[in-house]
Amino acid sequence: MNKFFSLSLLLSASIVTHVHAQRKTIEQRVDSVMKLMTLTEKIGQLNQYSGREVTGPASDRKNYLLNDIKNGMVGSMLNVKGVKDTREIQAIALQSRLKIPLLFSLDVIHGYKTVFPIPLAESASWDLSIIRRTAEVAAEESAASGIHWTFAPMVDIARDPRWGRVMEGAGEDTYLGSQIAKARVLGFQGDKLGGVDRIMACAKHFAAYGSSMAGRDYNPVDISKQQLHEIYLPPFKAAADAGVATFMNSFNTLNGIPATGNAYLQRDILKKQWNYQGFVVSDWASIKEMTPWGFAKNLNEAAEKAIIAGSDMDMESEAYKKELEKLVASGKVDVKYIDEAVKRILYKKFELGLFDNPYKFSDEKREKKVMNDPKYKDVARAAAQGSIVLLKNNNAILPLNKSLKNIALIGPLVNAKRDQAGSWVVYADTTNIVSVYEGVKQKVKNAKLNYTEGTSITDTVTSGFANAVNAAKNADAVVMVLGENWDMSGEAKSRTDISLPGKQEELFKAVKATGKPVIVVLMAGRPLVFDSISAQADAIVYAWFLGDQGGNAIADVLFGDYNPSGKLPISFPRNVGQIPIFYNFYNTGRPVTKPTDIRYKSAYIDAPNDPQYAFGHGLSYTTFTYSDLKLSNTNPQKNETVKVSFTLTNTGKVAGEEVAQLYIQDTFASVVRPVKELKGFEKVKLKPGESKQITFELSPEKLSFYHEEKGWITEAGEFKVMVGTASNDIKLKSSFELK
Ligand code: NOJ
Repeated sequence: MNKFFSLSLLLSASIVTHVHAQRKTIEQRVDSVMKLMTLTEKIGQLNQYSGREVTGPASDRKNYLLNDIKNGMVGSMLNVKGVKDTREIQAIALQSRLKIPLLFSLDVIHGYKTVFPIPLAESASWDLSIIRRTAEVAAEESAASGIHWTFAPMVDIARDPRWGRVMEGAGEDTYLGSQIAKARVLGFQGDKLGGVDRIMACAKHFAAYGSSMAGRDYNPVDISKQQLHEIYLPPFKAAADAGVATFMNSFNTLNGIPATGNAYLQRDILKKQWNYQGFVVSDWASIKEMTPWGFAKNLNEAAEKAIIAGSDMDMESEAYKKELEKLVASGKVDVKYIDEAVKRILYKKFELGLFDNPYKFSDEKREKKVMNDPKYKDVARAAAQGSIVLLKNNNAILPLNKSLKNIALIGPLVNAKRDQAGSWVVYADTTNIVSVYEGVKQKVKNAKLNYTEGTSITDTVTSGFANAVNAAKNADAVVMVLGENWDMSGEAKSRTDISLPGKQEELFKAVKATGKPVIVVLMAGRPLVFDSISAQADAIVYAWFLGDQGGNAIADVLFGDYNPSGKLPISFPRNVGQIPIFYNFYNTGRPVTKPTDIRYKSAYIDAPNDPQYAFGHGLSYTTFTYSDLKLSNTNPQKNETVKVSFTLTNTGKVAGEEVAQLYIQDTFASVVRPVKELKGFEKVKLKPGESKQITFELSPEKLSFYHEEKGWITEAGEFKVMVGTASNDIKLKSSFELK
């Protein structure tokens, strides 16, 4: 053993010992507090209230909340923010008999003061370092505002763009979603909890919420155990492995059992199999909602089922507060469940350092200094640039020349600010947001911008069409900015029709009829369906909702100061009838091999099977070539890792970034396998003419699949290896035979 190796072994052994010792010390401190607690006080720790009212004008609700806080009947508050308010409320909690500090929590989803792209957009960057960075900034700002805990990241895999919450996750793929889950957890929390500029993260919604039937929010989920383990659980496992402090359960049922009352999910999988040490918070009133579901007769039964199933903290049902004591007295709930939940919560309060200093996060000077720090603008701009996906660029119409004299900017979102922030930003200052109009104006100061809305987002008014057509006729370049408004995606924002709302598609057709080339920028919180634009637009820039720096980032792309590098993290359907649509489908016994021959094949008679834009698709202003694929072993053992190497070259004229993607297919197995599964990706920046050798590792774990009886297994046989620029654009192929 060489010196370095033995030293690093020694070091890592001492880190492990240190972590163990630290854990033991915290456990002892938790136990010493537990010994002082009455059952009522323990139950108080499991209670979480939402309460902006708590700092508002006098009201019954305010009195009620303050009273419970003072009496030690609240473990956590959500929706109280800012140093002044959190200090004031913490001081009241410290008047309680045991002076246990409160946890302040908030939905810090894509930024706190500085607004970053919505999570789905940011996932299109496939850039784990910027994703981690934006979570860090969100943590820095919110921690400086007295917040200890965010309800993010949402790690639900979503394959249905009708579901409004698709905007809040990382899209359709489990592997990409798992990497992003880890990056976000590490961003919010840092490598270790307790830093004054980091907050606890929360992996939500456990589990399978993204599979709500028919894309309707809060609907049931019915999926096989295999799908659950293979598609929906891995991002949660990745978050747990990254040390996520908390989990949130979900509103849906899973195969008939509400997630909140689901012992299989919360006890067997999370706490037993994964040995998860953090705590689980219910979703908002999800304990109480087990009654309308028809799973619990009343609040009493709901509390019983939830605590036994492993829901530790009760958000806004008051079920634990009102019912647990009675349930213990009647013998229906063993006090061990309550003790366990309390311990998990107190542990986090100690880990954050709140017992040592309950006001640790509430420092006015820091709050002033951190908020709106200009350096965060650069992070927001980089994140926004990387999130943009160039879907189409006929005849290289983009980038535009900066010497253009007359530019028509048409559409209801040209000067939009609030919309660009997307959903879940109630705490942000949206006046900071740069619109496309402002971004373009800043970029081409001497050009005449002819801006006209043409129509609104949702109205059916067409009276503005004539102006729009005129503007286009007189312009050297026509850019249309169309899409959804911010409030059409997010929680409880499912749509059955995901085409462009209002008369926007007609407006596009009228402008296109002028014969001028038309560049379309689309903003939305989900994949939209936009048939005629797909067919006729000369270029399409998918800009999601990009947050504060959206307008600047879009202008950077339009005028070539940033070479677009985003790739779709979710498939874009041709029409709603294709949903659910995703790249890792099964071949079926009757696959379509020739699009012209669909008789008695697994096909539609009125539309192709493939999406409008595939998972992984995204264009660049340069071109990339893939060559020289090599496998380290074409006949590996089951426990061996196969290395897949190839060369990527920028063959175009400008520098650019490519997301190289690795897919595999297990060709024959005891459980049918998808036609493709993403198993690796790397975002690489290359100068014109530059090449890089890229190596992906296919570990045994990546070759395994979930078998309903046997669990995770790997089977011998052929594996196809595919490397490409999109799931539907594979450039290199090979295979190996697993022994
Ligand atoms: C309900 C949402 O489902 C959840 O994601 C959120 O964190 C809570 N409300 C708290 O606002």
